[in-house]
Amino acid sequence: MKILLIYFSGTGNTKMITELYREAFENAEHEVTVTELPSTHERLVETLAESYDIIGIGYPIHAFNAPKLILKLCKLLPKLNAKRGKSKRVFIYKTSGEPVRMSDVSSLKMRKLLKKRGYTVTGEYQYVMPYNIIFRHSDKAAYKMWQTAKSLVPVDADEILRGAPHLPKNVILGGFLAWVLRIEHPGAKFNGKFFRANKDCVKCGLCVKACPADNIKIKPDGKVAFGGNCMMCMRCAFNCPKNAIDIGLFKSWKVNGKYSFDPPDDDSANGKHDNYCLSAYERYYAEAQRRIAQNAAEHGDGIDDIL
Ligand SMILES: Cc1cc2nc3c(=O)[nH]c(=O)nc-3n(C[C@H](O)[C@H](O)[C@H](O)COP(=O)(O)O)c2cc1C
Repeated sequence: MKILLIYFSGTGNTKMITELYREAFENAEHEVTVTELPSTHERLVETLAESYDIIGIGYPIHAFNAPKLILKLCKLLPKLNAKRGKSKRVFIYKTSGEPVRMSDVSSLKMRKLLKKRGYTVTGEYQYVMPYNIIFRHSDKAAYKMWQTAKSLVPVDADEILRGAPHLPKNVILGGFLAWVLRIEHPGAKFNGKFFRANKDCVKCGLCVKACPADNIKIKPDGKVAFGGNCMMCMRCAFNCPKNAIDIGLFKSWKVNGKYSFDPPDDDSANGKHDNYCLSAYERYYAEAQRRIAQNAAEHGDGIDDIL
């Protein structure tokens, strides 16, 4: 089969999951094309979508929603005529910092848009990855998230190839909640205007080059200017080598510096955030273990305790 993976990733988590999918599908001897938003040319999306058997769309959850450019992508996909048997299989994969059920509402709008265009969403998969805003997860937590995703994505890829449905349960008032929280889309533009490079900035220009919205400029007087097109993906502030970008009204939620995802040096807990959404994390890991073990049993493989 020919499989297209289209994704957006602000700070790399969704990109890492995309690479796991690529590997899993290629290992199963399918042809995979990976394309990252927003660099994908709009026309290209149209032609690409036409010629693939399965399309995977990946995004980081932003305020319990998909980023605006993911909705834009769904609107750009060519309409298929389902009545003439021209439907196409789509699966959604998303990353988030916490695994609360509310996250299931993030895809409602895009699923509606996709359905309208004749695409059938057969599966939706969420992977917990470390926060790029709010607080920094411990190295231990990030390592566990990554190890889990590495074992889980091949299981999910297997299910996607079989065409087995995997959709989240409905959340009461989910559509309404997601609609309210889409205030984040204009809110990101508004808050972005308050981003500042502080006195530690060395004008290296990395943020200018990295910004997916082309929203950061170095002015002739040497000052770094943030425009009105921010999508709050956090790429600039997260990757700033001098930790010199203040993120407007959410200043105290900034997370700076890549996660290592290597085995942590010391086995100590993170302390402060240990009990944060604890039952949701426990449920996520238990469900992941169950799926991985079930898949291994079905394939007759042994399984190490990954967690
Ligand atoms: C503006 C913004 C809003 C976010 N909102 C949520 C959220 O509602 N729920 C959640 O679990 N994580 C949330 N996150 C965390 C990201 O979804 C998470 O860290 C994700 O893995 C980042 O992926 P990326 O590195 O591909 O951008 C948010 C991050 C940002 C920047």
